[in-house]
Amino acid sequence: MGKYRVLVVGLGKRGKHHATHFHANARFEVVGLCDVNPDKLGEAAAAVGDPRTGTDAAAMAKELRPDVFCFTTPPNVRSEMIQIGVECGARLIAFEKPVALTSGEGLKIKELLSGSPAKVVVSHQHRYGKHYQAVKDVISSGKIGKVRTVYGVAHGWAAHMLSHLIDYSMWYNDYTRPTWVMAQAAGKHKLSDVHASPDYVGGFVQFENGVRGIYECGGGAPDVPEVQRWWGKNRIGAVGTEGYAEVYTGNGWKAVTREGILTGDGAMAYDQDMPGYIQDLADWLDRGKVHPCCFENAYAGFEVMMGMLRSAARGGQVTLPLADAANELEELQRALSGAPLQVTLEESRKEYGP
Ligand SMILES: NC(=O)c1ccc[n+]([C@@H]2O[C@H](COP(=O)([O-])OP(=O)(O)OC[C@H]3O[C@@H](n4cnc5c(N)ncnc54)[C@H](O)[C@@H]3O)[C@@H](O)[C@H]2O)c1
Repeated sequence: MGKYRVLVVGLGKRGKHHATHFHANARFEVVGLCDVNPDKLGEAAAAVGDPRTGTDAAAMAKELRPDVFCFTTPPNVRSEMIQIGVECGARLIAFEKPVALTSGEGLKIKELLSGSPAKVVVSHQHRYGKHYQAVKDVISSGKIGKVRTVYGVAHGWAAHMLSHLIDYSMWYNDYTRPTWVMAQAAGKHKLSDVHASPDYVGGFVQFENGVRGIYECGGGAPDVPEVQRWWGKNRIGAVGTEGYAEVYTGNGWKAVTREGILTGDGAMAYDQDMPGYIQDLADWLDRGKVHPCCFENAYAGFEVMMGMLRSAARGGQVTLPLADAANELEELQRALSGAPLQVTLEESRKEYGP
């Protein structure tokens, strides 16, 4: 079997991770690297066998006709890349979370993909961590009884972290579809960030199987004292009829079950999570095994995220799936007060203003 030819666009932190791990997998060959900033290309190319490099993604995609079009650009560069991926005829499009920053952009992406046979994957790769997997195993084995609630907490802001919280908690609920969402938000500081978000958003989700989702993301979230590192202070888990199980992104996991308390180690690390993520891309292409980070799952989570922002701006329950396009960021800009956020952790002040 020939190798799948890969073009990676956006050679920042995540682009380099992707290029490195495609290069390390025998099923893939990196044939092109692209970044609008040419300074990013030389070193990255040398590390992955010196493929073609350039600054124009559309031109490179047209010329190279890759099997895999992978883009890891900032979150405000999305539908234009999806269009390039679709037009170059790639068999698989892989891109970074969040799916988009607004429902308008997300719907545009969905529409572009609806006419394409391409397989599509969104990088929620923390789930490959052994501590994330251990929590999934405890829940699936029935040790916490019947799941009633899933939840996620993070101190990083929504465009960075909420996508992760929602995806893994939905995995813990077997990706059952959400039916409505309701939320509140505070703080406008990060609305002007490239990962544009309210400083703090908290909300409730109803899932079709009656399970409740509860999320808090940003500077007002409660501490996760199990973890030292600020970005790793995330708690994601499930409460069942006979216990609970939760993962701490930066420091292991814990379950309280009828059989006793279970714990284990694990810490999110890109070099541990990427190989499995990349191998699952090969498995989808080679033998049709659908990738756990498939667009369908990611888009359902994206709608929860946008529904939360929309509810925070407008009030009330938002029905899912979303039927119409909106710019939730502009709506929040108008709706939120200018009051600075009351942060939970001293460390959060540098991110969310004084
Ligand atoms: N899955 C994860 O664990 C994880 C972790 C960090 C970041 N991310 C996500 O990955 C994405 C990228 O984040 P990052 O930290 O690597 O960002 P980054 O700023 O380090 O890199 C982005 C790169 O894209 C380039 N770029 C911008 N526009 C471009 C265009 N039109 N064509 C080609 N290149 C372009 C920039 O020059 C830059 O080099 C974001 O969506 C972010 O949310 C995911």
